[in-house]
Amino acid sequence: MNLTTLNNPIRGSAQPGSIIVVVGGGKGGIGKSFLSSNLGIFLANMGFNTVIIDCDLGAPNLHTCLGEEPPKVNFHNFLTGKMDNFVDCAVATQFPKLRFISGSNDHQELANISVYDQSRLMGAIYGLEADFTILDLSAGTHTSTLDLFLMAERHIVALTPDPTSIENAYRFMRAAFFRKIKRYERQLQLDAVVAGLMQNAQENEIRVPSDLFNQIIRLEPNKGQELKNIMRRLSFDIVINQTRSTKEVQLGQSIAAVSKKYFGLHTNFLGHLEYDNAVWHALRKRRPLILEFPHSNLYSQILSIARDLASPHLKKAVI
Ligand SMILES: Nc1ncnc2c1ncn2[C@@H]1O[C@H](COP(=O)(O)OP(=O)(O)O)[C@@H](O)[C@H]1O
Ligand SMILES: [Mg+2]
Repeated sequence: MNLTTLNNPIRGSAQPGSIIVVVGGGKGGIGKSFLSSNLGIFLANMGFNTVIIDCDLGAPNLHTCLGEEPPKVNFHNFLTGKMDNFVDCAVATQFPKLRFISGSNDHQELANISVYDQSRLMGAIYGLEADFTILDLSAGTHTSTLDLFLMAERHIVALTPDPTSIENAYRFMRAAFFRKIKRYERQLQLDAVVAGLMQNAQENEIRVPSDLFNQIIRLEPNKGQELKNIMRRLSFDIVINQTRSTKEVQLGQSIAAVSKKYFGLHTNFLGHLEYDNAVWHALRKRRPLILEFPHSNLYSQILSIARDLASPHLKKAVI
């Protein structure tokens, strides 16, 4: 891989056949790591070679959700050059087809890594050979977190029914939306147009992010359409976690519908996970939920999400 590719992660693409799934959501404590780890376990159990990466450099805890000890190697070894190959940071888990790459535990934040290191990391993630690569993001909307979010094919936005979590999820999707525009506007020579429109958003009748496209297309029909087509590749998969009632489950559906209108992008309600003390009990025993509580409702709810993610692979297998 040459430097041009490294410095321009937009040009990267995952190994043929491999799918990158990211779990983000802007807020901490909403179950991103719980969901990521369990999706990894379920996909691996379905027979897919899966790698799960803890992208929370500041507070990595994915190993606990997986019921594993903190590994001796983590991706800090790769970033500091102690390990040349990113794949060597991957450690085996108790699930035969599941490997896992830990974040570092030296309190370094992803936000603080250099642009060069971020590009190296993204290039290395694209280069992993696996059916599924799952990225478990940290909280916040730092550009490095957003870039990892944008590099995936499936963009899971996790939230809880709590109003602050809902607000954070919108803020996170909005930040991802504008980050993606930012990455392409210069390439399409639309940066001045976008900046001009956003400076006078009200006058230009840009009330929601999706209005931006209509205005760009009005000023620059061809390039505007090209940008719109690029942006359509971004879609959001909403997962509402810790639901305690049917009403809260339905909230996931309405958030997906509102987001679709707001961003003008495909948004899907991928599923819900109910609140269950079993999560806490399993964590306390350092045992994954699938082993400790295989008969819980959560089991079938996670399975349904994992099946949705696996469906393109399953279709290929049937053909
Ligand atoms: N569906 C659930 N039911 C009950 N507790 C949950 C559920 N999902 C997550 N939790 C708990 O919420 C806490 C935060 O989860 P975690 O996955 O670490 O969040 P994040 O990665 O978003 O910071 C954990 O203690 C976990 O046990
Ligand atoms: Mg986490």
